[in-house]
Amino acid sequence: MMRAINIYNPGKVSVGAGCIEQLANDVLVCGIKKVFLITVSAVLKDIDPVISSIKKNGVEVEMAVDLPGEPTFGDFEGLLKKASGFKTDCVVGIGGGSIMDVAKIVAVLIDSDQKLKDVVGIGLLTGRKTKLFCAPTTSGTGSEMSPNSILLDESDNSKKGIISPFLVPDYVYIDPVLTIGLPSNITAFTGVDALTHCIEAYCNKNAHPVVDAFAMEGITLIAGSLENAVLNGDDVEARTNLAIGSMYGGMCLGPVNTAAVHAMAYPLGSEYHIAHGLSNALLLPYVMEFNLDANYQRYADVAVALGAGEGNDDIETAQNGILILKNLLKRCGVPSSMKELGVEESKITQMAQSALKVTRLMMNNLKEISLDDAITIYKNAY
Ligand SMILES: [Fe+2]
Repeated sequence: MMRAINIYNPGKVSVGAGCIEQLANDVLVCGIKKVFLITVSAVLKDIDPVISSIKKNGVEVEMAVDLPGEPTFGDFEGLLKKASGFKTDCVVGIGGGSIMDVAKIVAVLIDSDQKLKDVVGIGLLTGRKTKLFCAPTTSGTGSEMSPNSILLDESDNSKKGIISPFLVPDYVYIDPVLTIGLPSNITAFTGVDALTHCIEAYCNKNAHPVVDAFAMEGITLIAGSLENAVLNGDDVEARTNLAIGSMYGGMCLGPVNTAAVHAMAYPLGSEYHIAHGLSNALLLPYVMEFNLDANYQRYADVAVALGAGEGNDDIETAQNGILILKNLLKRCGVPSSMKELGVEESKITQMAQSALKVTRLMMNNLKEISLDDAITIYKNAY
């Protein structure tokens, strides 16, 4: 029997070029008097008219611009202090996944007795009183649509997930214009992250027909537009397709989530500070190769969505898909081995041990991964 799933989507999702303008009116309609905006300097020029419009309506705006890197527990505490001091009545996150992840946690804990360390895990938040607005400036994490936030815990240098429906924003603006200035490598890495969300949700122990539809559409859109967006960043149509594909990827994260690629990518991020999307890109083809015989049909569907030709059977089609994927990554200038990024081969066992600890994702993987399997996959990706 089909299992029941819950889908928590934002209250309003605006999609399309220029839709960020709607933020000013939505803030007004909500009766908000103080806006705490967490954003990135790269889009300040783009969002200046919206901020001016908000201020014209008599609303105060306090800004935190740019995080030093991937958001840490310490960064979060600093932002929470600043937002509390300002006595904000809403949090707006306009940026990549890191910015939105931290904005989501600030919004949920600002009016709460709960502390960050108490809410790490699944479903531990008790509520959110503060309005939350998010707008992505990359097409990748899908954080604007998801109930997940990932922060780096400095105490053990590992990424911790906070997962709760209360992290889903009230208002979301998916405006491809905000992604136009992204450098080509960031476009490629973040795009592959979104693609990985879709592939890992479709080929997942907990796959679900409702989410399959999001995943398939996401794979088709991203595979069809990634190269154009990377090679010509001003291509609004390609940017729009990527933004929508990323949104679908985000919609896969709540009800199904990712699997071994993400679990194995985490040590590359925390140990070597390799960008999240790039870490996924390094591992995706090799985890797919490992998983293939668990469900050739699913991987054949993915292959067709990636643009591969149909083979004589699902096995051949699925294998074509991995080749198509490797070629796409190459054409987008994505590095193809851990070695070229300075990862030490001697660290592979340690990384495999650390990846196996990410049980919340590993348990979704189509095939069980032993320590030896994880070592082999890392070596193949090396
Ligand atoms: Fe991801």
